[in-house]
Amino acid sequence: MAYDTIIANGTVLSAEGQQQADVAIQGERIAAVSPGLAKDARNGAAVLDATGKYVMPGALDVHVHLELPFCGTVSSDDWNTGTKAAARGGVTTVIDFAIPYKNESLEDAYHNWLSKAKPKACVDYCFHQAITNWDRHGPEMEKMVKMGCPTFKEFMIYASEGWQSDDRAIYNTLENCKKLGGMLLVHAESARVLDELIARYHTPELMKQYGAQLHGMTRPNFIEAEAIQRAITWSEVTGGRLYIVHMSTAEGADLVKAAQARGVDVYAETCAQYLVLDDSLFAGPEGHLYACCPQIKKKKDQERLWKGLNGGEVCVISTDTCTFTRVQKAMWNGDWTKIPMGMPGLETLVPIVYTHGVLADRMSLPAFVAKMCTNPAKIMGLYPRKGVLAAGSDADVVVFDPKKKTKVDFKQMESGADWSPFQGWELAGFAETTFCRGRKIVDSYQFVGQNGWGKWLPREKAGSLR
Ligand code: URP
Ligand code: ZN
Ligand code: ZN
Repeated sequence: MAYDTIIANGTVLSAEGQQQADVAIQGERIAAVSPGLAKDARNGAAVLDATGKYVMPGALDVHVHLELPFCGTVSSDDWNTGTKAAARGGVTTVIDFAIPYKNESLEDAYHNWLSKAKPKACVDYCFHQAITNWDRHGPEMEKMVKMGCPTFKEFMIYASEGWQSDDRAIYNTLENCKKLGGMLLVHAESARVLDELIARYHTPELMKQYGAQLHGMTRPNFIEAEAIQRAITWSEVTGGRLYIVHMSTAEGADLVKAAQARGVDVYAETCAQYLVLDDSLFAGPEGHLYACCPQIKKKKDQERLWKGLNGGEVCVISTDTCTFTRVQKAMWNGDWTKIPMGMPGLETLVPIVYTHGVLADRMSLPAFVAKMCTNPAKIMGLYPRKGVLAAGSDADVVVFDPKKKTKVDFKQMESGADWSPFQGWELAGFAETTFCRGRKIVDSYQFVGQNGWGKWLPREKAGSLR
């Protein structure tokens, strides 16, 4: 057979297991996965020797915010630095959130996001459509699904950004999702009580005493849990498919598990930072850098989320990348309500989960591939184009050395961040080689791709793991 590239002699990973096999690429697709392809090839295909290496599908990060106007500034990883960071981290597909500005339609937001992404993206991408005004956007959902955009997003907080949805919007959107084959992603935090707690703590004395710790003190776990429970109720009674984004609490995992056991069509994602960071960081001199929303929680929450990944109630790990530099973070000036909320993460997602999951015996290799690749592809309606190494799938392939650990240093990274929440951590799992649709975009750990290579990915329907 005529192949362009053969990745030979590696251990090929899937959500089901592993095998010694070669992976052959022809054009933008995988042509074959089988032992002996390199031996039998006669046409001078480029052969990449992956002896001793793992060969996995390109990971999907289905929750990112690149160059997002937010918290009075704009997130500093744009579609250039953000997708280069993705490539170096072995992420070949990202899904961002297209958020309409005042009076805009869902389609306006889609075009706005596309115009930012198209010239710069180095990996493939698409968008969740944020519904910020039910009466305007509800009737537009059908058209968006027909355009290839079947996933929608609602925020239960962020009134000040003009993004907040109430229960009526969530209930109606879930009903529509059921009709249209769509899915609703929800940022679940309880706005009214959260605002009350913020008002109670927002005094000069307490800010002086507690600084960035107030970010955690005003968001006890019930703020997330109550909102998750409410969203689950609306999913249960409408039958609309629900996906809880960036779940950070043990209580949330319990609620999702119980709902799934009752047959509710609900999924939950967590993010790498909730698995490995905890809120003791807020007490440090740079505590404000770690403020994201929802905030990192406690060790017991971490343990419950790892357990949920094994149990299945947590089925995807993303990053919620929303990078702010030190100068941007300094806007807080001692007032935690002014911290631009978010962190960099795309470049370290796969290494964090591989090192702290697989190498720490918290997660099997097949579960790692499931949570990084196959599950997000299935749930977001991108499978089997993405998320698996199989003939006919896009040739998104990552080769990594399971034993090679690298010390994280933001100065060596593609992200535009001038800090990293994982600075100095020794991590294995950085991509030695990344292919995106057959094109090598990382070679010997260095980015070698091209702006504009990434393509927008149309999707017919939201998918399912059932
Ligand atoms: O803190 C974060 N991640 N900000 C981005 C917006 C959100 O709620 O996901
Ligand atoms: Zn959110
Ligand atoms: Zn987010």
